[in-house]
Amino acid sequence: MSFAIRPVSDRHVSQIAKLFNAAIQEAGATGDYSESQVAAWSRHHSLDNLSFGTYAIVAASGEEVLGVAAADLARPYHIRFVFVAPNQWRKGLGRTLVSCLEGFCADRGVRKIFVASALNAVPFYAALGYAACGSVTVCLPSEAGPEYIQIQAIEMSKRLESELPRTRS
Ligand SMILES: CC(C)(COP(=O)(O)OP(=O)(O)OC[C@H]1O[C@@H](n2cnc3c(N)ncnc32)[C@H](O)[C@@H]1OP(=O)(O)O)[C@@H](O)C(=O)NCCC(=O)NCCS
Repeated sequence: MSFAIRPVSDRHVSQIAKLFNAAIQEAGATGDYSESQVAAWSRHHSLDNLSFGTYAIVAASGEEVLGVAAADLARPYHIRFVFVAPNQWRKGLGRTLVSCLEGFCADRGVRKIFVASALNAVPFYAALGYAACGSVTVCLPSEAGPEYIQIQAIEMSKRLESELPRTRS
């Protein structure tokens, strides 16, 4: 299926919330996370909690959202997330979305890009040239009560080349 990369707009929001949930349930099926961790991860990306950072894009076929990704310029993690609809996995959408995030960051002076990768996504980022540089524990609210659910992730990074012409000093 052909797709185009576009900025996120309000009309995409409800599809994005559904896509998050579908991709997280499918990722959860790999067994990297427990049921309660998958539920907390999904709540974190529910319609009520959507937050996109500095730069957010979708991969869309017509009006159908097939993937979504977002980046922030500030550390700790420039790549906030990359999600692709499960029925579109392994077709290059994730790679294209990350390449756009990298271009956005490189053009704004980021020389080394960081992501906190979900355990299931480590082979994906590794295939794109990212190397593991540490582990991270993300604390997300539990469904009820004051406790937090801990989710393990892997900090990964990659050096970026800027496309901007360099000036001589
Ligand atoms: C991770 C994710 C975004 C990858 O998206 P995708 O569109 O399937 O990725 P691509 O097709 O661009 O894959 C690029 C390369 O990454 C590697 N890769 C991707 N998924 C992989 C997997 N499950 N296992 C091993 N390698 C994988 C492959 O080398 C692949 O190239 P190939 O298909 O030519 O072999 C998608 O699986 C997803 O949405 N997962 C759930 C959400 C998630 O965990 N997001 C990351 C949170 S930071």
